[in-house]
Amino acid sequence: MARRSLVAGNWKMNGLRCDLAEIREIREMVEAGHAGAAEVLICPPSTLIREAVTIAQGSRLEIGGQNCHHLESGAHTGDLAPSMLVDAGARYVILGHSERRADHGETNVLVRRKASTAMAAGLTAIICVGETKEERDAGRAQSVVGRQIHGSVPADHGVDRLVLAYEPIWAIGTGVTPTTHDVAVMHAFLRRELNELFGEAGSTVRVLYGGSVKPGNAVTLMGIADVDGALVGGASLTAGDFMGIAAAYRSLASVQG
Ligand code: PGA
Repeated sequence: MARRSLVAGNWKMNGLRCDLAEIREIREMVEAGHAGAAEVLICPPSTLIREAVTIAQGSRLEIGGQNCHHLESGAHTGDLAPSMLVDAGARYVILGHSERRADHGETNVLVRRKASTAMAAGLTAIICVGETKEERDAGRAQSVVGRQIHGSVPADHGVDRLVLAYEPIWAIGTGVTPTTHDVAVMHAFLRRELNELFGEAGSTVRVLYGGSVKPGNAVTLMGIADVDGALVGGASLTAGDFMGIAAAYRSLASVQG
């Protein structure tokens, strides 16, 4: 089952208007073919979404949000409804990132509700899952991630607006990555879980790897079976590094034929 690769940048709480120059550069590099056939997405902070969308307009670069509320509107000071992201021109939203699960106590149930509302509003949800170092060392990585998938992924919205991201928490921002074997084993497990949830359609869902992806390890990580792209934090803040990762797809595609 051919799945279109996705290289997604998560700017987290970084980025001022002066940093939009990076998005301009990313757009130019995408248009110049640096990412090959891969889809390229940047999720800047909410304050920059509208301007980023304007910059990306007419190109193949997509813009997304980093979070949204689980309701469509109402008295929720400081929050953004999915329809507001859509209105601003976003097409994707990252949900259930481990930093939000830790900083804001987001549970699987809440992430699932957010994903349902986001998908109903027309956004594609990138739902993040991943284990802690302690959980991996205790041999519980698959059981933890399996629970997160079954708890966080809405099973009644189909697969068209669903992307999964496996992000081992201990690999985020640390410069440490799992072995290729461990990534392969986890992604094969995720694929089985998706097939269990969605039947054959589970094979169409893209599963990204995230956690210390850099230009130097991108070819190795992206070459692993069932890894359909990357969710990139730190290295997405500069166009050169980010597009260096996206370029891994071009070189892989040329190696594979
Ligand atoms: P990192 O972050 O690339 O800086 O490790 C990844 C993420 O949190 O999505």
